Amino acid sequence: MAAVSTKHIGVFDSGVGGLSVLKALQSRRPEMRYTYFADSLHAPYGSLDSKTLLVYSERIVSFLQSQGAELIVVACNTLTTELIGELRSRFKLPFVGIEPAVKPAAVQSLNKRIGVLATQRTLKSAGYRSTCQLYASDVTLVERVGAGLVEAIEHLPWTSKELRAQIKYFTDEFRLHDIDTLVLGCTHYPLVESLFCELLGESVKVLSAAEAVAKRVEQLTPNTQGSQSELRLYTSGSAEHLAQLVERLSFTQLKSVSRLEL
Ligand code: DGL
Repeated sequence: MAAVSTKHIGVFDSGVGGLSVLKALQSRRPEMRYTYFADSLHAPYGSLDSKTLLVYSERIVSFLQSQGAELIVVACNTLTTELIGELRSRFKLPFVGIEPAVKPAAVQSLNKRIGVLATQRTLKSAGYRSTCQLYASDVTLVERVGAGLVEAIEHLPWTSKELRAQIKYFTDEFRLHDIDTLVLGCTHYPLVESLFCELLGESVKVLSAAEAVAKRVEQLTPNTQGSQSELRLYTSGSAEHLAQLVERLSFTQLKSVSRLEL
């Protein structure tokens, strides 16, 4: 993909998960303008059929484009693996997606035992399977579907006992399999990365791909001259709830948090 002169980036996800990617983006390119759309009303996307996902995604991309976004970050592993190609063919915009960080995990793992936690759709997708074949054929992958976790991170307080117990269920399972690296393959999970780290202990490295996406965007946008640092957040769910969540993430230049049904 050729470099683009972009002043405004649109970011979206099935819900609040993509905020973990937005955080990495804003850290690398604080001078940029961002518009984020969380489709929390329809989360989790994993339970929807591909046709519906395409309809929702098209509406969101059209909205982001109407706001002036010149580059779109699909901050959702499930959507990236399933339909980023389709979106690229329908919109004259550059798209950057996210995929589970299996490649860096395979390089970093010392005991060659890696855990991957993702949605069922992502783990089953052709894109993910071919990444594993290409870059992780010499490692043991312990793959688990994070059943119920997207919903829990959308709705439960991140400090709640219930959420901690749900995450412990998965970390106990991974510890049994003696992994030394865990890939968080859904953008919702890094929002509670500290819980994963605490429950797994120091011997397990926890990786996500948000930083890699931010680096890619940085490479693609060498010229940000004239851009006006600003962040606007939209959600199809509750704006109050989203505003509470983002307080913990300390974004800068946050101008508005609004509810919008597309
Ligand atoms: N954050 C999305 C992802 O990275 C969650 C997908 C879903 O809503 O099922 O896959």
